[in-house]
Amino acid sequence: MEFSFNVNEVFKSPIVEITPNLIPPGYTGDRRALWDTVSKVGEVVNQMGSASAAAQGLTKAITTADRIRNSEHKLYFLIDKNANSGKGAVTGMLKTGNKSLYVFDRDGNHYQVQPPCLLDFYIHETKQRNGLGKVLFEHMLQKEGIAPVQMAIDRPSEKLLGFLNKHYSLKDPVKQMNNYVVFDDFFPKRSLPA
Ligand code: ACO
Repeated sequence: MEFSFNVNEVFKSPIVEITPNLIPPGYTGDRRALWDTVSKVGEVVNQMGSASAAAQGLTKAITTADRIRNSEHKLYFLIDKNANSGKGAVTGMLKTGNKSLYVFDRDGNHYQVQPPCLLDFYIHETKQRNGLGKVLFEHMLQKEGIAPVQMAIDRPSEKLLGFLNKHYSLKDPVKQMNNYVVFDDFFPKRSLPA
């Protein structure tokens, strides 16, 4: 996704992590320039959030700058530095956060957990199925120090279920009443009765 401003001046590396203050990593400008930079990051969040919602057939964006500011969520953006005549473009977005959830395993045992969750994930339509989703997802796993099976996934699309199956052999999701999905190895191993 292209923007009227120079994306490369706002985001200095190929994958950036954005926290609720919307200040891009490595920001070095003064206080006045900070306001301008934060509003550009907000524009990226809103545009990518809307595009993700449209791609998932949702009527309302689940990722907006306002919601990020009032959350403990983390956003990762994938940047194509060479796009838009060298001004750069944003090609992917991934949102994570911990949630308090009740989850049930296949035997009906329930667990109260606070797992890392995959909350939103989007690669621009023109770039899907080129391995970029995997690049962004892997970066997130490494930064958060987790394995895919430790995550709960909020309302996964068919494309995302295909993605998790293809890259991480995660299949047969255990669907929860709260619309989250986990996989069998998410649950702690229960010892068999003696
Ligand atoms: N149809 C079916 N499966 C797909 C499609 C598609 N159009 N696109 C990606 N996939 C799955 C397939 O398993 C595919 O492997 P294949 O091409 O061999 O069949 C695999 O993903 C490709 O892996 P990557 O190239 O690394 O993934 P990609 O860059 O396409 O990113 C993503 C995956 C984020 C799901 C992307 O397709 C996308 O943005 N889709 C639209 C939005 C969406 O559904 N997001 C997830 C919402 S749910 C949530 O965020 C919690």
